[in-house]
Amino acid sequence: MCGIFGYVGTKQAGPLLLEGLKKLEYRGYDSCGIGTFDDGQLHVRKGVGKIDEVEKTEKISGVPGTTGLSHSRWATHGGVTSTNAHPHTDCQKSIAVVHNGIIENYQELKKELQTKGHRFTSQTDTEIIAHLIESQAAGTLAEKVRAATLQLHGSFALLVISTNDPHTLVAVRNESPMAIGLGVNEFFAASDVMPFLEHTKNAVFLEDGEMAVLTKAGVTFMDVKNGTILSKLAKTLDWDSQSATKMGHPHFMIKEILEQPAAIKNALVQDPEKLDRFVTLLKQHADVKFVACGTSRHAALVGRYAMNQLSGKSAEVYIASEFSYFADQCTKDTLIVAVSQSGETADVLVGLRKAKAKGAKIASLVNVAGSSIDRESDVCLYLNCGPEIAVASTKAFTAQLSVLYLLAYTLAGQKNAGIAHLKEVARHAADRLPKWQTQTQKLAESWTQHEHVYFLGRGVNFPVALEGALKLKEISYIHAEGMPAGELKHGTLALIEKNTPVILINPHDYTFSDTLSNGMETKARGAKLIGLSDSANEAYDEYIALPKMPELFYPLVAVLPLQLLAYHAAVLRKNDPDRPRNLAKSVTVR
Ligand code: G6P
Repeated sequence: MCGIFGYVGTKQAGPLLLEGLKKLEYRGYDSCGIGTFDDGQLHVRKGVGKIDEVEKTEKISGVPGTTGLSHSRWATHGGVTSTNAHPHTDCQKSIAVVHNGIIENYQELKKELQTKGHRFTSQTDTEIIAHLIESQAAGTLAEKVRAATLQLHGSFALLVISTNDPHTLVAVRNESPMAIGLGVNEFFAASDVMPFLEHTKNAVFLEDGEMAVLTKAGVTFMDVKNGTILSKLAKTLDWDSQSATKMGHPHFMIKEILEQPAAIKNALVQDPEKLDRFVTLLKQHADVKFVACGTSRHAALVGRYAMNQLSGKSAEVYIASEFSYFADQCTKDTLIVAVSQSGETADVLVGLRKAKAKGAKIASLVNVAGSSIDRESDVCLYLNCGPEIAVASTKAFTAQLSVLYLLAYTLAGQKNAGIAHLKEVARHAADRLPKWQTQTQKLAESWTQHEHVYFLGRGVNFPVALEGALKLKEISYIHAEGMPAGELKHGTLALIEKNTPVILINPHDYTFSDTLSNGMETKARGAKLIGLSDSANEAYDEYIALPKMPELFYPLVAVLPLQLLAYHAAVLRKNDPDRPRNLAKSVTVR
């Protein structure tokens, strides 16, 4: 994972890099650092902790110079220590490198470099890159970086500066994202566009095996393999930099939860030609496989259900990290539907590439336009919900559901009816959110002692049980399990004891009476039953009322109080809901 951000221009790099890096903190936040070039030497400051903490203790933004790079880390190789934080330097302290990804052959390279006399100070795979560049024969920084890159195996996005090529920043991409921002007399390179959005809306996205050489005078793009110069088209970004601020809310997560009525509606605004192409692909392919991770997979489970109910189309849903083991079964009759907020999740990318190699077509839903999944798809629909910053996904989930319902209705030849229903759902969601806020906060207050919570649902409501449990685990660190209510008796019922909270996602639909019976079974064993329904019942110890709506749409509203519940539980436990421990938003390693 990790976030990287570099700058070449006329402004002081330190403060600019610090501000930009904070927008990448969702990618990892165990340690961070900034390196700059000034007055013939490199200046590197780094430390352990979140960016604000490290800035306080190490004053990392105080490094002088107008060329620099920065990094926010999610540890893979080497513990969370100040020495392992990036940037990393070579023996002469003349080269500084930041890296996102994993160098698979770093142990072999390290041994070779050690034999040649290089001395290492960290346990990271990244440090070998600085030494490998140092060990190259004479040439420009770009030439040395290119030669070194050719020896690296694995996934990497790299930024490099050196005292030998002052005011030059070299960026390389292989299987980890890299966006280049084109300003006036200033240029940027980052893991995504957020850090430079307030400086420029013009961006170029590097592809695997490409590099960029940034100076104050401009950017040169090159093919890493043969060194040829590439001409690449810039894309104009339409995200607003304001949308990446908290806008008065205490956390991004609550801001994003409250944005969902708008997210449901904005997701409906799709390019009609692309929507048609997507639906045509669904019709043309007998074998449809959804591939996704985390919250996006839960959205896919609802999407599969909606498609099946409305048009009879069946599909499978794969956890992306497991899909690789089935990808060989793909043929030209396979359509992969990749669902991903970031568009960069490594397991999804690996899966879709394997499927593509077998002749499959790729249709995707992503939030980040220009992301790798977007670029590698035959057709890609955008979620249009603006940047999602909190690590735990909320508005991207409801936007994904909105697009998936739209697809299902369009496939069934009822597009306009689908749009009308979804707008109605958005209205209900907006009406109910204030009430749910108060109710879930109160419920979370009574939960400070609980360490286990169970979420039950059936049919289209089962993925909501999974998502409710995932949200709670991610940010409150309370153990939670979501499961099909019917599965309870096959093991989990043994864990229910006096006062164990059980949340029943139980709208008054075709699943109602069976789910209620399962709830009663837990209550008989002492559980505290929390009913999430549009129909009150005396069995519920707590009742969260849902609005009445067509059966298929309950997931879109039922998930909202569950997100709020997780948020309030996290805040009450004094956790940072935006940056849960050990997690990162964009999982770009496998
Ligand atoms: C991480 C995030 C989750 C997200 C999952 C999939 O685990 O913390 O919030 O659901 O990755 O990410 P994607 O960007 O592919 O939707």
